Amino acid sequence: MALKDFKDAVVVITGGASGIGLATAQLLSNAGAYLVLADINEEGLQQAATQVKKSGTTGQVTTKRTDVTSEEQVQELMQAALDAYGRIDLVITSAGIGRGGMIDTFTGQEMQTLMNINFMGTYHCVRAALPAMRKQESGHFVFLSSAAGKLGVPLLSGYCASKWAVRGFSSALRAEFYGSGIDITTVYPSWVDTPMTHQPEMELMNIDVRLSVEQVAGEILQAVLQGRHDLTMAADEETKKLFQIMQDNPDKAEQLTGQALQQRLQQLAEGTA
Ligand SMILES: NC(=O)c1ccc[n+]([C@@H]2O[C@H](COP(=O)([O-])OP(=O)(O)OC[C@H]3O[C@@H](n4cnc5c(N)ncnc54)[C@H](O)[C@@H]3O)[C@@H](O)[C@H]2O)c1
Repeated sequence: MALKDFKDAVVVITGGASGIGLATAQLLSNAGAYLVLADINEEGLQQAATQVKKSGTTGQVTTKRTDVTSEEQVQELMQAALDAYGRIDLVITSAGIGRGGMIDTFTGQEMQTLMNINFMGTYHCVRAALPAMRKQESGHFVFLSSAAGKLGVPLLSGYCASKWAVRGFSSALRAEFYGSGIDITTVYPSWVDTPMTHQPEMELMNIDVRLSVEQVAGEILQAVLQGRHDLTMAADEETKKLFQIMQDNPDKAEQLTGQALQQRLQQLAEGTA
């Protein structure tokens, strides 16, 4: 069953110290939710909590340093939410990293780290929050996949794999949770204006248009209230078109993105990028 509003809702947010997680926390606090913010970055987490408390209406923000790759730490996170508030209504899995590069040089260690944080982190959250949600016969997950969970993005093969994994996981789970009162919204935004898209290694990606975190956070909360399963957000018409081409003719989409990469690499080599 969809949440009717966020007043007094108990919400756990991973990756709550930055970007989409922090912007969503801000809106939820303004809407009167009880928040448990989790992140691996302890200092960022404290700053985020102070920021959210200042502008929120309930002031009910607790934090728990959590590495989402650790099953034990994620169990402790959900237990902390239950100890503090007695229930868990919404879990937003926003902890994630973006890494890229040609597969020729992308190491097994880098690939494993991406999968551990972006996919296994999501899995651990489900396993840890589910027993309480089963008892409540209600609960909602928001999984941050990505446009890269619907498209094939050259130089982001590992990131794509982790985000397609989140997409497949959520589709299977929605079927598994059918009729249980537990639901999932999966979010597929194209580039968003957060620290992740300003890393030096993202320069190769030639990002010129980004969604704002406020817009993404606002749409996520609306999607939860509407019980939507798929929230896909394109920052520009070109990305919107690419989503459509990928759906209608995946070969064509791969060819177009491959050609764009070749062009970009050539421009960089010639110094005309
Ligand atoms: N920024 C984009 O363009 C974009 C687009 C689509 C999807 N996403 C996804 O949205 C989510 C949020 O991304 P963002 O852009 O807000 O990034 P961000 O870098 O601003 O925030 C991510 C947060 O995750 C935390 N984190 C990283 N590893 C962690 C771990 N092991 N345990 C706990 N916390 C950890 C970081 O410390 C950081 O605070 C990610 O899953 C990302 O893949 C981002």
